[in-house]
Amino acid sequence: MKAYVIFLIIFIKYVLARDNFTINFINSFIENEGKPTIVISTGLCWGKHIELKMVKLFSYLGVRSSSSIGGHSHIQDQHLLFLADMECPEVLDVLNNATSNNLFQFPFRWLILSREGSDVTNSTLWSCPLLTDSDLVLAAIKGNYVTMTELHKPSMNHSMQLTQRGFYNGSFYDTRPHRELYRRRKDLMGTTVIMSNVIQDSNDTKEHIEKEDRLDLHNDAVVKGCWMVAKHSYEMLNATRRHIYSYRWGYKVNGQWSGMIADIKSNKANTGTNCFITTDRLEEVAFTDMVMPVRLRFIFRQPPLPYIANIFSLPFSTDVWIAIVVCSVAATLALFFTSTWDVSMERNPTQLDGSISDALLLTLSAVAQQGCFIEPTRAPGRIIEWFFFAALMALYAAYSANIVVLLQAPSNSIRTLAQLAASKITLGAADVDVDYNRFVFSLYNDSVRMGIYRRVIPENGPPNFYSFDQGVEKIRQGLFAFHAIAEPVYHRIVETFKEAEKCDISQVDFVSGFDGFTPIKKDSPYLEVIRVTYKQIRESGIQSAVVRRFSVPPPHCVTSGSTFSSVGLLDVWPVIIFMLYGVAFSIFIFFAELLVHKLLIEARRFMCKRKDLRLRRRIKIVNLHRGKPGK
Ligand SMILES: *[C@@H]1O[C@H](CO)[C@@H](O)[C@H](O)[C@H]1NC(C)=O
Ligand SMILES: *[C@@H]1O[C@H](CO)[C@@H](O)[C@H](O)[C@H]1NC(C)=O
Ligand SMILES: *[C@@H]1O[C@H](CO)[C@@H](O)[C@H](O)[C@H]1NC(C)=O
Ligand SMILES: *[C@@H]1O[C@H](CO)[C@@H](O)[C@H](O)[C@H]1NC(C)=O
Ligand SMILES: *[C@@H]1O[C@H](CO)[C@@H](O)[C@H](O)[C@H]1NC(C)=O
Ligand SMILES: *[C@@H]1O[C@H](CO)[C@@H](O)[C@H](O)[C@H]1NC(C)=O
Ligand SMILES: *[C@@H]1O[C@H](CO)[C@@H](O)[C@H](O)[C@H]1NC(C)=O
Ligand SMILES: *[C@@H]1O[C@H](CO)[C@@H](O)[C@H](O)[C@H]1NC(C)=O
Repeated sequence: MKAYVIFLIIFIKYVLARDNFTINFINSFIENEGKPTIVISTGLCWGKHIELKMVKLFSYLGVRSSSSIGGHSHIQDQHLLFLADMECPEVLDVLNNATSNNLFQFPFRWLILSREGSDVTNSTLWSCPLLTDSDLVLAAIKGNYVTMTELHKPSMNHSMQLTQRGFYNGSFYDTRPHRELYRRRKDLMGTTVIMSNVIQDSNDTKEHIEKEDRLDLHNDAVVKGCWMVAKHSYEMLNATRRHIYSYRWGYKVNGQWSGMIADIKSNKANTGTNCFITTDRLEEVAFTDMVMPVRLRFIFRQPPLPYIANIFSLPFSTDVWIAIVVCSVAATLALFFTSTWDVSMERNPTQLDGSISDALLLTLSAVAQQGCFIEPTRAPGRIIEWFFFAALMALYAAYSANIVVLLQAPSNSIRTLAQLAASKITLGAADVDVDYNRFVFSLYNDSVRMGIYRRVIPENGPPNFYSFDQGVEKIRQGLFAFHAIAEPVYHRIVETFKEAEKCDISQVDFVSGFDGFTPIKKDSPYLEVIRVTYKQIRESGIQSAVVRRFSVPPPHCVTSGSTFSSVGLLDVWPVIIFMLYGVAFSIFIFFAELLVHKLLIEARRFMCKRKDLRLRRRIKIVNLHRGKPGK
């Protein structure tokens, strides 16, 4: 009986000590992680008092615990640590449930205990989807010693990979080479990662991608660059590269996705070419780094300056113009006064005749830098004339020098989208098997972009879509802005433009600095490793080298200004308008003179009639007076 009791006490002590060891181990494990943790212990079969003790110990550590996953919001996902025991019968349910609810993925963590003697390699655990992004530790407890092993498979077809994580013999030993999960998971061991390449410009691109020969850069440059970077990433990950081709980027039309996004969504591809982030797309895929800039631009030649402003008034500021007018008026008046004096002294045919019109004529001929045959004959008038001519000569030199420069100058007037919207130049967009233009324009609803959208795609009437060749030729002819991906346009510009025509090429960004980012399937186990390698590729400078190799730089002109361009009608347009106004004004004056003349004649005739009448009446009266005595 006594022996029984002693045995029982020893047994209980042993059991208690064993449980104490396990609980201490779990505690050390959580402490070693050093992360905020909520322990989810579903399906444990240890008995209430042990679990209670465990929970108590956790609470000392500041670790929350719960026996079900419910009641946690998704923003706490990274805090959850699932605790399971392979000895307990319910573990199968737990594992199956986790598989069907994707609980082995990032960011959930798992700690699974197994006891001495049990073979877990033939259990459900081995067939669970413990992919690259899973963080699962199998702790094998053998007496007072725990060995910890990390389990993962690079893909479902691979066998389970076991990695030592450390051991526990009362104190915790962590033997991971790196604490960062993705640094340990970088070897995908030949797993196939599929990239979807979006071919839009030419199907020849497929051949060039296959050969990596960097030819035909104007076609699908973004795709080629993205593929090169992806290739480097796959090499770093020891993954097998494969690619498929999609012919559109992917847009949601009537709830159905097309193109690359549809391929990624339906698991045909893991990742894809850079594309713009839209809220629709964010629901379907995750985005990581920008690899190749997608330069979607309005490209145009700056309209010549005469088109934008009146170049004849530009050389002088308003103040100078006012000063010239004031000077001319002053000179006219001065000449008028001196000429009245001249006339009183002597008279000859080439002299100012003392009227204001002669003074004005002389002044205006000075302003226009023309000679005039009448001139002042005396010193005061000549001094005035000389001063006026000298002042105007300096102004004239400045004016003509400026006009020559202005006639050749391209304007730099269109630099922003609002200026482009306000300008009168024609807007068009590229449309050769490319669909981005049909979607990009309708993405925005602010008034400036809506206005541009309506000018490219009018509500009634055909949309202004052109092929690249047509579009670039229209750019060359001027007063036309073409919206497209920059590479093919730049390439054609370099090929077809004359040197001087390249000088005034400008671009305006419609999507305002939006850039393409690499889409990856949202719950892809490779999301994070690909992200890490993309960052490494960018930090090492390989990415910018690829961008330089595959993108066409904006065309530069070498010989700026040394060319001759003839002055067209457009350049002298203000002068023509000025002359037309003059003609109209002279016709008006002509009719006014006619009218005045007619009126004067009428008035005279009227006066004559009245004089006549009065005369006749007077004669009558005289006659009457005369006739009276005669009667
Ligand atoms: C359990 O472990 C704790 C240390 O974490 C120790 O203080 C306690 O005495 C142990 N209890 C038993 C019954 O061994
Ligand atoms: C499976 O998980 C869900 C929550 O993800 C939970 O509601 C359910 O009770 C679990 N079932 C089992 C058998 O554990
Ligand atoms: C694994 O389990 C199956 C039955 O579930 C059994 O037929 C097979 O022999 C076991 N293999 C090993 C290596 O234990
Ligand atoms: C796994 O292997 C099977 C046949 O060996 C193959 O059909 C399947 O595509 C592979 N799955 C993956 C994800 O590689
Ligand atoms: C645990 O292992 C370490 C390293 O092997 C050893 O130095 C230490 O003495 C061991 N502790 C116990 C309590 O056995
Ligand atoms: C790459 O994966 C293969 C298995 O497909 C493996 O044999 C090889 O050792 C791995 N290479 C590196 C550098 O890890
Ligand atoms: C390339 O080929 C595909 C399928 O054969 C076709 O749908 C697509 O329109 C072609 N693209 C071009 C630019 O020719
Ligand atoms: C543009 O659309 C957003 C939401 O789609 C709306 O809140 C906003 O008022 C719209 N703006 C204009 C100018 O229509």
